[in-house]
Amino acid sequence: MSRARASFEILPSILSFDFGFLAKEARRIEKAGADGIHVDIMDGHFVPDLTLGPRAVAALRRATALFLDIHLMVYNPCDYIEPFVIAGADQITFHFEATEDVKETAQLIRTHGKKVGIAFSPDTPFPRTLPLFSWCDQVLVMTVAPGLGGQHFLPDMLDKIATVVQLSPPETRIQVDGGINCTTAVQCRSLGATSFVSGTYLVQQPDLEKAILHMREAIGAV
Ligand code: DX5
Ligand code: ZN
Repeated sequence: MSRARASFEILPSILSFDFGFLAKEARRIEKAGADGIHVDIMDGHFVPDLTLGPRAVAALRRATALFLDIHLMVYNPCDYIEPFVIAGADQITFHFEATEDVKETAQLIRTHGKKVGIAFSPDTPFPRTLPLFSWCDQVLVMTVAPGLGGQHFLPDMLDKIATVVQLSPPETRIQVDGGINCTTAVQCRSLGATSFVSGTYLVQQPDLEKAILHMREAIGAV
């Protein structure tokens, strides 16, 4: 990595937490020193599963002051931006594959004053021809197929991360999501990733605070 980039962030994914105790889990994540909560929203169409809606995100918002990073795995993302903004989202990432107008979707999020992320599923090549970076604050490189926690990191995505990092302005956050543990986080970090989403790996650790600290140390963020 040749250019200075924004600071690193570690975001546990809500997908791996106990949905019966979302507020409690949000407070636990905050206490453990995470930089925010990655909230996976699935619509049963773009991906088969269904997860949370704006009401549940509003409950998270009441429980914590942490940065809420909303990952929309839904078709027609424009229909859901305002409800999630009202619910308390700080950043909304939508999938490149899920909308016919990427620019319009990004602009709608910006209009609401929130940070914009654009996500790419593993099979989607990164488009070099669009002025994507002027539309977004973050590019999310999915390192597993979207829709499910607990999958193995796809090593082929390392090349895509390198490409995105090479093309992007230094202030663009490069997020990786799927199969992230200390080993894969270090691999992604060495190519320039700056935002690390981790569900299964972090949650399996007996001490979340220690696990987050360990990951920070591994990526050289302390
Ligand atoms: C998958 C989600 C991820 C998921 C990551 O579609 O976008 O955020 O929670 O889970 P792990 O870390 O278990 O791969
Ligand atoms: Zn996600």
